[in-house]
Amino acid sequence: MFEHLHVWKNGEIVPWGSANVHIMSHGFSRGSAIFDFFGIYPGPNGPAAFRMDKHIERLFRSAGFLGMRLSYSKGQIIDAVTQLVKANSIKRGVIKVFAYYGEESVTSLVLDSDLDLTIFAIPETAEMGVDENKPINICFTKWRKIHPTTVPIEAKACSNYLNGMLARQDAFSRGFDVGIFLTTDGYVAEGSIESIFMVKDNVLKTPFLGNILQSITRMSILEAAPSLGIETLEKQISPDELLEADEIFVSRTGKKVLPVKKIEERVFDEAPGPMTSKLYQLMDDICNSRNHDFTRWLQAVS
Ligand SMILES: Cc1ncc(COP(=O)(O)O)c(C=O)c1O
Repeated sequence: MFEHLHVWKNGEIVPWGSANVHIMSHGFSRGSAIFDFFGIYPGPNGPAAFRMDKHIERLFRSAGFLGMRLSYSKGQIIDAVTQLVKANSIKRGVIKVFAYYGEESVTSLVLDSDLDLTIFAIPETAEMGVDENKPINICFTKWRKIHPTTVPIEAKACSNYLNGMLARQDAFSRGFDVGIFLTTDGYVAEGSIESIFMVKDNVLKTPFLGNILQSITRMSILEAAPSLGIETLEKQISPDELLEADEIFVSRTGKKVLPVKKIEERVFDEAPGPMTSKLYQLMDDICNSRNHDFTRWLQAVS
């Protein structure tokens, strides 16, 4: 499907089919890979990346949490993304940056090498449904969010996504679209690949950081919402409080504001609700260069 695309691998633009690692590589056999993921939107002066600076900084933080070293600077990664967006003629799409130990390792757990780096730039496909806002059904998954004392959950590490895969499988098996994790002490955390927001009495609430990924979309919604006069609150949220929300939506790169129609047995009369609709419109305007207060969030990649 993507054979026509090029990939940036350790400083070179190579064909899609050359983006390989050995099965015995540490990155594959131990799951020691990190990544970041962000959107490209068509701007008035060419394609632009949504908060690329924050995403690349998060990649460096992920490496730091895991005692890993990247072999390229932030500027070199931004240049590489720009080169690849041009090579693949991306106008609207997504960027996935992977850093991993490509070195083969039979028994060693701790390597002293720098990470390899591979970047993908993929045009939007119908399947991605970027920024679609068809309401979804969510449930609480039986799996708990990995506890932050077991692995650094703020690292966007590929191996942490087994937790997410199980939650999604569990949700699908019960006929829901997304499973929301509770923390090990029973509070609302996030979805497999999405943050969660609720509205109650006109206040926008979301779980505070500590047990969840530092999502760039979550941060952006919290920063942009006050421009509409919306009061925001980061707090511990119990499952009962979420079930009694006036509105719920989930958010992530690619689906900035995705309304929830049903949570467990509770069905919302209106989805999206009024605040969710306003926030969807705000984020859509920001990403598509129609809101001039946040143009700094769109960084040229042309
Ligand atoms: C566990 C988790 N939470 C939240 C998010 C949303 O993060 P972002 O807004 O940076 O895409 C993701 C994204 O992959 C995720 O994996």
